[in-house]
Amino acid sequence: MTRTCLSLILAAGEGTRMRSSLPKVLHEVANIPMLSHVMRVCTAAESDKIAVVAGKGSELVIDVVQKENASASVHVQTERLGTAHAVLAAREAIEQGADDILVLFGDTPLLTPETLSNMRNVLAEGAAVVVVGFYAKDPTGYGRLLEKDDKLLAIREHAEATEEERAVDFCNGGIMGLSGQHALALLDAVDNKNAKGEYYLTDVVEIANAQGLSVKALEAPEAELIGVNTRNGLAEVEALWQNTARQKLMASGVTMQAPETVFLSADTIIEPDVELEPNIVFGPKVVVKSGAKIKAFSHFEGAVIGENADIGPFARLRPGTDLSAGTKVGNFVEVKNAIVHEGAKINHLTYVGDAEIGSKANIGAGTITCNYDGMNKHKTTIGAGAFIGSNSSLVAPVTIGDGAYIASGSVITEDVPSDALGIGRGRQANKAGMGEEIRVRNAALKAERSAK
Ligand code: UD1
Ligand code: CA
Repeated sequence: MTRTCLSLILAAGEGTRMRSSLPKVLHEVANIPMLSHVMRVCTAAESDKIAVVAGKGSELVIDVVQKENASASVHVQTERLGTAHAVLAAREAIEQGADDILVLFGDTPLLTPETLSNMRNVLAEGAAVVVVGFYAKDPTGYGRLLEKDDKLLAIREHAEATEEERAVDFCNGGIMGLSGQHALALLDAVDNKNAKGEYYLTDVVEIANAQGLSVKALEAPEAELIGVNTRNGLAEVEALWQNTARQKLMASGVTMQAPETVFLSADTIIEPDVELEPNIVFGPKVVVKSGAKIKAFSHFEGAVIGENADIGPFARLRPGTDLSAGTKVGNFVEVKNAIVHEGAKINHLTYVGDAEIGSKANIGAGTITCNYDGMNKHKTTIGAGAFIGSNSSLVAPVTIGDGAYIASGSVITEDVPSDALGIGRGRQANKAGMGEEIRVRNAALKAERSAK
């Protein structure tokens, strides 16, 4: 597209009904703030510039905006005097000029880039204002879109609407496109002579019509325009988001036995031919490569799962986990900040943290890398083909060479050379007949006690 675009996101709402100390737009859907969703949609629709209008005490919002997009600007609306007033808090950004100006809300995370592109097309065809509407099952509370012959005449806020107007079920979704050429003049003409005494952005429609400009309405699915106001609403939007994301993954070739029990993050990448059993949680930054099988009740964050890996059930992968192809991580195994090379197996009841494990190494049940001394983290290195006997503690920093064996139950505090056997435990002693002696002694004690 050759036209330039400024996306302006209103995020100054206090979100009283969330009952939260966190600004509403920072509440998360799919593990990223709602505001980030909206910003990403703007970028996907090829916005050249993003401006966010935040409320007072908005340091947290500023932080999120800058992390999401370093070139985005934040403008503070110090008093909440209405949606048009909020837009004008970003006057500076509007004055810089853009062909298309899109006004969006920070609490509608299900918006799609297609809808923004459709708005931009209507502006490119010569409209001065385009409003996105939807058909509401229950239109109460929404502004009504009053149309005649393909023209949008007015948006009537519920509070101002007549009985007849309230019967209209085509509603304002809240988002609006303005031609950059007319935007400031239209916005500056808005006043606050209405039921709420607010500067309504929606008044721009009648002002533009009075100037003989073209004003259009565009339809989008209701789900895209859902605004989150409560924790309940947040959960509903999360459910819709998850459902769409699962469907996309299945369409791309991922098997899910019970899709409704799989939870994804906005950045989860799962390649085709991955199989997912029920109840799996994908926290942020997880990549699963083709052919991997993930068994039930596993929890991942910040992990790469290699091709044909076999994970779970009940596996926990924490940030910095990098599992190569054909690795196995079984039940009740926790892996953190560790590179596990091809074909290595960590099958049962183990903690691997701050480690590198060589290819085809076998880590026995109950192995613990003792990586933390109470102040610092230390690394454990295990060579290719090494065999760690069950119930061993590897006290880091420590290196186990290629092909080395560790006797089970060892506490290993010194490096073990390649192909050596490391044993770090008391030697076994068998005392002949002593088992029988103990049994006789215990039986006598018991008889004495019951005689009393
Ligand atoms: C608005 C629309 C209504 C539409 C509905 C869709 C107006 C006048 N009305 O009504 O037609 O059907 O959205 O959900 O636009 N905000 C600020 N600063 C302000 C006021 C609002 O940043 O001074 C932000 C809010 O945080 C919110 C958004 O603008 O994200 C909408 O404001 P809100 O007061 O919720 O408008 P509605 O009454 O829902
Ligand atoms: Ca609202």
